[in-house]
Amino acid sequence: MDDLRRAARLAADTAMDHLAAVPGGPVWQPVAEADRRWLTGQPLPAAGRPVTDLLADVRDHVLAYPMGNGHPRFFGWVNSPPSPAGVLVAPLAAAMNPSCAGGEHGGALLERTAVRWLAELVGFPHPPGAGLLTSGASMATIIALATARQRVVGDVRETGLYGHPPLAVYVSAEGHSCVHKAAELLGLGGRYVRAVPVDRAFRMDIDALRRLIRADQDAGIRPLAVAASAGTVNTGAIDPLGDVVEVAREHGLWFHVDGAYGALGVLADSPDARRAFAGMELADSLALDPHKWLGVPVDAGCVLFRDPAGPRDAFSLVPPYLRESGADELGWFSEYGPEQTRPFRALRVWATIAHLGRDGIAHRVRHGTGLARSLAAMVEAADDFELLAPAITSIVAFRYRPAGRDTGTAEALNEAIPAAVQRRGQAFITGTRLSGAAALRACILHPGTTEADLALLLQEIRAAVRDI
Ligand SMILES: Cc1ncc(COP(=O)(O)O)c(C=O)c1O
Repeated sequence: MDDLRRAARLAADTAMDHLAAVPGGPVWQPVAEADRRWLTGQPLPAAGRPVTDLLADVRDHVLAYPMGNGHPRFFGWVNSPPSPAGVLVAPLAAAMNPSCAGGEHGGALLERTAVRWLAELVGFPHPPGAGLLTSGASMATIIALATARQRVVGDVRETGLYGHPPLAVYVSAEGHSCVHKAAELLGLGGRYVRAVPVDRAFRMDIDALRRLIRADQDAGIRPLAVAASAGTVNTGAIDPLGDVVEVAREHGLWFHVDGAYGALGVLADSPDARRAFAGMELADSLALDPHKWLGVPVDAGCVLFRDPAGPRDAFSLVPPYLRESGADELGWFSEYGPEQTRPFRALRVWATIAHLGRDGIAHRVRHGTGLARSLAAMVEAADDFELLAPAITSIVAFRYRPAGRDTGTAEALNEAIPAAVQRRGQAFITGTRLSGAAALRACILHPGTTEADLALLLQEIRAAVRDI
């Protein structure tokens, strides 16, 4: 045990050394060939080795190649640095190693608080039992749409979808692909996922939504659910949630909100944010990812429901060996989703929120949204960049557009810029397509990012163009 205790101290020091070194190192670097061989090609060992040897391996071959999201100049996809409190408690959750399927133990009970706190943070009503932690928003969306399907079809668990008319799901053309994946997985068919056109601010066009619903009804297709976005991955756009819920109620659709990235944005607490998020609290289900803006170490997603009976009706299946006499009336978490053995995610979520407090989290959100506005202003002020969407949350979508270059050249450059910037190691940005053209997007989630980092990002893009 003493050896293990020494190794535990070494592991903690290694983690802290890593966190301290990240901001001073390259944001990202390609994996050296020898290390790639080590990472991917190790033979299965016949004999074991001491843990301290393994820690040295991890330090030299694994920690040396971070994805980049711990760095203040990482602006790719939607990946935050880990919250220090979340990092520190992760080994404790592993030391307990419970299954949070349910039962009477610290892990399962703490999840009740973690989920309720998340609901309170984003202003969502929370009757007891109405939500659970998930691996991420993709799983949250599967659980939400499975619940919608059960509600609308009624006997789907018994008969499947046989004999039912096709069920349509509506999501804006800017909505996340996880809605599509969930619909495919649930047997709804990707063909019946309707991509609702967006307006110039990349928000769901409500008239188009109404037209699509009417056309489906006329064709004998049953509208099932509308999945609105509270923060799209491309631009951070928030669909007009108040209008969407009206349409959903009018036609008896399930109203799901994908707040995976953006739901916490409501904490900006400005008149703009209050207006933009109005209606989110009326959702039948809301997906939000503590492993995004909140910084809980991956994995930590969450799905919240208005009515806890919904997911329980869709998933509860308690085999005889798990039946408990005198069980808690909320039952087990495994009755509310597809996972049986469930990890102790709640400790990382609880510790992150408890460490920052509501005020600290709101400060972090305001920091991200404020910097996004600054970057948008820098882009607008530059004559070689073009802003593509308003900066509503903490994502800025823009394009490199130098004078004198034709559209084809500008398109090729914007496609090549993300990889060229990444290779330089000073900043990390990813690309996307907006309105049919290549675009750049920066997602600002790091509490240590400064305006100087944003100015450096634009310089790095210009320098990368010279490398291309
Ligand atoms: C808006 C949005 N929805 C859903 C997802 C999927 O979330 P996850 O990767 O946690 O499954 C993402 C991921 O980036 C996202 O940005």
